[in-house]
Amino acid sequence: MRRPLILNGFMATGKSTVGALVARTTGRPFIDLDRAIESEAGSIENLFATRGEAAFRALEQACLERVLNEATRAAHAPVIALGGGALLSREIRLRALDECVVVTLEGSPAELTRRALRQGQRPLLSGPNPEQRVTELLALRAPSYAEAHARISCENPLETVAAQVREVWARDELAVGAAEASYGVQTGVGFASGRIGALVAKSPVCVLVSDKTVSALHAAPIEDALRATGAQLIRVDLEPGEAHKNIASIEGIWHAALEGGADRKATFVGLGGGVVTDMTGFAASTWLRGVRWIGIPTTLLAMVDASVGGKTGVDLASAKNAVGAFWQPQGVLCDVHYLSTESARGFISGLAEVVKTALIGDPGLFTLLEDNAERVVARDADLTAEIVRRSIRVKARIVSFDQRESGLRAVLNLGHTVGHALEAQAGYSALTHGEAVSLGLVAALRLGEALGQTPHELSERTLTLLRRLGLPASLAGQPLAEAATLVGHDKKRAGSNVNFVFARALGRVETQSIALSELRTRVLALAE
Ligand SMILES: NC(=O)c1ccc[n+]([C@@H]2O[C@H](COP(=O)([O-])OP(=O)(O)OC[C@H]3O[C@@H](n4cnc5c(N)ncnc54)[C@H](O)[C@@H]3O)[C@@H](O)[C@H]2O)c1
Ligand SMILES: [Zn+2]
Repeated sequence: MRRPLILNGFMATGKSTVGALVARTTGRPFIDLDRAIESEAGSIENLFATRGEAAFRALEQACLERVLNEATRAAHAPVIALGGGALLSREIRLRALDECVVVTLEGSPAELTRRALRQGQRPLLSGPNPEQRVTELLALRAPSYAEAHARISCENPLETVAAQVREVWARDELAVGAAEASYGVQTGVGFASGRIGALVAKSPVCVLVSDKTVSALHAAPIEDALRATGAQLIRVDLEPGEAHKNIASIEGIWHAALEGGADRKATFVGLGGGVVTDMTGFAASTWLRGVRWIGIPTTLLAMVDASVGGKTGVDLASAKNAVGAFWQPQGVLCDVHYLSTESARGFISGLAEVVKTALIGDPGLFTLLEDNAERVVARDADLTAEIVRRSIRVKARIVSFDQRESGLRAVLNLGHTVGHALEAQAGYSALTHGEAVSLGLVAALRLGEALGQTPHELSERTLTLLRRLGLPASLAGQPLAEAATLVGHDKKRAGSNVNFVFARALGRVETQSIALSELRTRVLALAE
């Protein structure tokens, strides 16, 4: 229980009572936000009456920020019970989701109204039909209450609720905020087959999709765990590799689902690299117009990149990922035990995305890699789990703010502008995606230096790290002239601009618009 626990939810869900009990049974400090506000500014009822809801919310917000600042630095992470509207602002909610474990307590409108009225005057329920008001408020707040690590019914006995909350807290998952489609990503060593059963709970049918290579190595324990839930199991083993990431493979999954009688309650489970998880998610998004799915990535790339963000899809002839959908999984299990059998080239390629992620948003991850490069390459399990967790945390933070790629998410393209061009130039075969990204990072750093954006020292440090991790870091001999013509090839209009991501410092990047013609000249100049 490294991170503070936050109890969120509507009024009268028992946040304070459950919070106090969880704190007592775990020996942790307890903070009741409403009491903290009252000790500063007097009774909440009075605040509402005299200053109005908006003023109260501002006060609540400021108090919560102070509490979070202290709680996240405390030696013993506390339990914090919130007022029902404290996390309505998305900015602070996403901060809480990143820095704490957030549990929403839920109940039916009838039960919550009954409890609220029994507890006395509630400023928000003073109208003629309190239950109607509760129903309206719950509907209004549903997307914000859904952005949590878990949602737990408050209508069970107190001890049961507290035990469930403690379990979620101890699990310490990472959460991806996506309103009602929010989900958790679990990371660790050797835990996936023990956890998958709970995630598919109550699905009468499970469709387990893998590829033949991964299936032979790792499917059996997952298969057993799925069968143990009592679900009927449908197995689909695809041919391995990007060449099979197409609609024909998806049709194979659809047919298997049809023949096995997978209905709307079915859960699809994707066990494999990014090819398998992208296709499983896409098949799930289209089967009966969308069913639940769970990702169990088995490559480093699929864990640190494909597991977060909700992008699913297939290639269309040479157009990579041309057909697809945003479809969030129910949950993701990143078990680094699987990585012990990944090819050396595949694993090391995945490290390029890790370095990219560290540059974008986690200086501590960057130094962790620098301090342990040899152990990283040797795939020390606990270290790998830590690296995977930190990488996912950065990506989860970014995509939670920008679910549909409207802007902020673009920083994840660091190293990909030139990287994609080199990858395409090599016909997607001579270079792995990760190797291309490694070279693309070098190009982005050098370009940043030439344009006065990137400190030389940062470039040198990153190049050294890439080399120590076994990644290519020299642009000499790369087909930069060809790559220059391919850069921004999707930009048809002559003279158009591209957004280029520059590394400014460890953990800090900046996107700037640059003329395509200038970018091409600069890429050519990298050869000198
Ligand atoms: N959805 C996203 O946001 C996102 C992000 C990044 C990449 N991707 C996609 O991911 C794909 C690339 O992922 P990938 O590199 O994992 O490719 P992959 O799924 O093709 O796996 C690479 C190879 O490794 C094998 N393999 C997988 N896990 C293994 C294991 N544990 N042990 C032994 N062999 C194993 C596979 O059978 C395959 O042959 C691309 O199609 C890309 O578009 C998606
Ligand atoms: Zn990438």
